[in-house]
Amino acid sequence: MNKIKVGVLGVQRGASMVRYCLEAGNAQVVAICDKWAEGLEKKKKEFNDDSITYYTDFEDFIKHDMDAVVLANYAHEHAPFAIRCLKEGKHVLSEVLPCANMKEAVELIEAVEESGKVYAYAENYCFMSAPYEMKKLYRQGKIGEFEYGEGEYIHNCESGWANLTDADPNHWRNNMPSTFYCTHSIGPIVHITGLRPIKVTGYESGMVTRSRRMGRKSGQFGIEMIEFENGGIYKSVHGGLYKNSVWYCVYGSKGRMESAREDAQVGGVGKIYVNADEYDGQYERDIIECYDPAHEVSEQSADFGHGGSDYYIMYNFVEKLRGREDADIIDVYEAMDMFLPGQFAYTSIVEGGVPVEIPNLRSKEERDRYRNDTTCCFKDKAGDMYIPSYSKGEVEFPESVYEELKKKIDK
Ligand SMILES: NC(=O)c1ccc[n+]([C@@H]2O[C@H](COP(=O)([O-])OP(=O)(O)OC[C@H]3O[C@@H](n4cnc5c(N)ncnc54)[C@H](O)[C@@H]3O)[C@@H](O)[C@H]2O)c1
Repeated sequence: MNKIKVGVLGVQRGASMVRYCLEAGNAQVVAICDKWAEGLEKKKKEFNDDSITYYTDFEDFIKHDMDAVVLANYAHEHAPFAIRCLKEGKHVLSEVLPCANMKEAVELIEAVEESGKVYAYAENYCFMSAPYEMKKLYRQGKIGEFEYGEGEYIHNCESGWANLTDADPNHWRNNMPSTFYCTHSIGPIVHITGLRPIKVTGYESGMVTRSRRMGRKSGQFGIEMIEFENGGIYKSVHGGLYKNSVWYCVYGSKGRMESAREDAQVGGVGKIYVNADEYDGQYERDIIECYDPAHEVSEQSADFGHGGSDYYIMYNFVEKLRGREDADIIDVYEAMDMFLPGQFAYTSIVEGGVPVEIPNLRSKEERDRYRNDTTCCFKDKAGDMYIPSYSKGEVEFPESVYEELKKKIDK
């Protein structure tokens, strides 16, 4: 079996992809890069594998002999690194999010097209058991045409926020707007239906007390109300509401399918309920099927993170590189269909809640409008198009907020 040689940038989240390579037979991790020398050293001891070379500098790392790079660096810095890797002839698996603004979105798409290399987007929630089963069922026509759906990715990260942000007021997690980290709730419906989002209206939460304790300078949660190309409507909610929830529900023209609510304690997003008729208009009685869907290679994936979905991101990427045409990866256009609703939901919020058109970046003409659009909430990316991450104005917390958080960092 030819093993794909993989390099990993970012040793925290990237450790999950390293683990895949160490355990699965189809890939080998050959290089790991992180500018955080202490963290890198710790992982080196943990992995205890002499065949891996460690780098603290990306420019040295990218010269290493490898087929593909996994980008698990900062969430708003993926696009320039992806472009650099593609230009060096490497395939790319990018963690969420794909880019920070529209200029980067256009540049990323065009770099992928020019390179001829594989770009895959690591939106793992699409590969959790229930949403992945929903994709299979939807494509078989089980519930008919998509009419309405809801997706929730609610994660109260307060207890781990000091570590997740290094108690740094400039960390991306403290500066992203409420609608930025949107692809865990939007990604599954895009991957299930294959439909393109065309319009969005956004909502952001108020500045709740948790935000102040965490030093997060934006609303804790965001909502996107999305219209799809077939007229279907989807409600996406994501962020730091108090109690966690990962849940998906899809209504079609002859049925409904949804995952279990976590509070029901029956397996959460690992369990699916399908209530579908044979034909549109039959409507005789509820025919409810309830089961735990199994994946193709479920044994190996079982103890990987996020309900085993972390396994499938790497598995499909590596299998694609090994020539398996039907390997289920999320390409750059689909990645944008997952990212753009969040980007334009914030435009909607800033403009007072108006619906905003979502461009189709597959079209070169539509790209031209956004070629120089750096609008975003990350100062180093936006230049003179910077907008604050809270729509009601710039939020600055006193230094003491971050000093308190520093005391909580678990070394
Ligand atoms: N899909 C998921 O379920 C999931 C879960 C957690 C994190 N993530 C994503 O993974 C990525 C990383 O998140 P994280 O939780 O590890 O935290 P993080 O973003 O704080 O960590 C990024 C790591 O990359 C390193 N890094 C950044 N820029 C670098 C550079 N130029 N050269 C070398 N090293 C560099 C940092 O030192 C750090 O260790 C983010 O994109 C995040 O969105 C995804």
